[in-house]
Amino acid sequence: MSEIEPGATSSTHRRAWPALLSITLIVAAVALAFAWVAGWLTPGRLTPQRFTNAIEAGNGQIYRGFRRAHAKGVCVAGYFEGSGKGVALSSAALFAPVRTPFVGRLSIGGGSPYGLDGKARVRSMALQLNSADGQQWRMAMNSFPFFAVSSVQAFYEQTVANAPDPTTGTPDPAKQAAFATAHPEFARFADWAKTAPWSTSWANTTFNGVNAFRFINGSGEIHNVRWSMLPQTAFEAMTPEQRATVDSDFLSEDLQRRLVQAPLRWTMLVIVAQPGDPTSDPSQAWPDYRQHVDVGTVVIESSTPQDTGACRDINYDPLVLPTGVTGSDDPILAARSAVYAVSFNRREHDIATGKAAAATGDAKAQGRRP
Ligand code: HEM
Repeated sequence: MSEIEPGATSSTHRRAWPALLSITLIVAAVALAFAWVAGWLTPGRLTPQRFTNAIEAGNGQIYRGFRRAHAKGVCVAGYFEGSGKGVALSSAALFAPVRTPFVGRLSIGGGSPYGLDGKARVRSMALQLNSADGQQWRMAMNSFPFFAVSSVQAFYEQTVANAPDPTTGTPDPAKQAAFATAHPEFARFADWAKTAPWSTSWANTTFNGVNAFRFINGSGEIHNVRWSMLPQTAFEAMTPEQRATVDSDFLSEDLQRRLVQAPLRWTMLVIVAQPGDPTSDPSQAWPDYRQHVDVGTVVIESSTPQDTGACRDINYDPLVLPTGVTGSDDPILAARSAVYAVSFNRREHDIATGKAAAATGDAKAQGRRP
């Protein structure tokens, strides 16, 4: 048995000190990183949680169990049929001349699941395409041709400016005017909202991807693109009288009537950017004469209410992409991905803990839960 040299214990302690200090520093750094990510160190920083809180405040109340934006909608199902022309642009499997099934959702803008269809300026289509190679492509598109603002911060400010004032229950016009002055690009969107005709149906609405993405083909060539879904159903505009008198659920009722007759179709048109076209700013449309490629057809065959349909628990995160497609340098894409995740987690938590909103309001509202 060896004897311990006098002084060995204190020298062991001396050797242990640097290791203990390193461990303490690592633990402190990890704790700080968590606190920073959570926004506790920078209370003014725009986090996905803070953005979602602002959206909830803008809705005037929290509609538990529902999407915090585009809350009213219906689930749809069908397939995408590739034309084969997209293969030159992207190696994504669905661009081959094959059928790829999807679970989709048609919705209106706004945070209330009881929103009135006749008042909804923005209509939307979301798709989760599941290709045979096991890959997924999720996309969420809107009827506006370009985004209202050019940055994430500006969209946050718009959300705050449009929130109902607690004293009047309606947005404060002074705050809205101050927002519009601070973000001159918003004038283009305001003009679209005021002048563009309102479609009579989801079936005859054009849905635009708005943000830029990158397509990579089998040879590794990269193209910046945007895309739109062009309805094969003839466009028809609503009259102001129709808008004032239509049933609050006319869009889903119209959809059901049409689907009994035949499936509904949209052509997916890919717009290829030229050098210099802005890819990081979705508020700027690209010129109309850019190359357009008809890459296939979206076919909707059936619909189900969202409270029982397969779309209820899907987060249509625009950055879930297959090989052959990536996000662009547009920072709004990453913000969407982060905020959708928070909105998704909150509504799934509501559902899992039995806090989803009970059916109130319009009995015919498609968004309600039983
Ligand atoms: C920073 C910008 C944006 C923010 C913060 C935002 C926020 C949100 C949120 C919170 C949801 C609900 C997500 C869920 O609970 O599943 C949502 C849904 C949606 N957003 Fe956005 N959005 C943004 C930009 C856009 C843009 C540019 C488009 C279209 C081109 C778009 C189209 C949609 C659509 C179609 C849905 C409904 C998807 C569904 O049916 O589940 N959003 N958005």
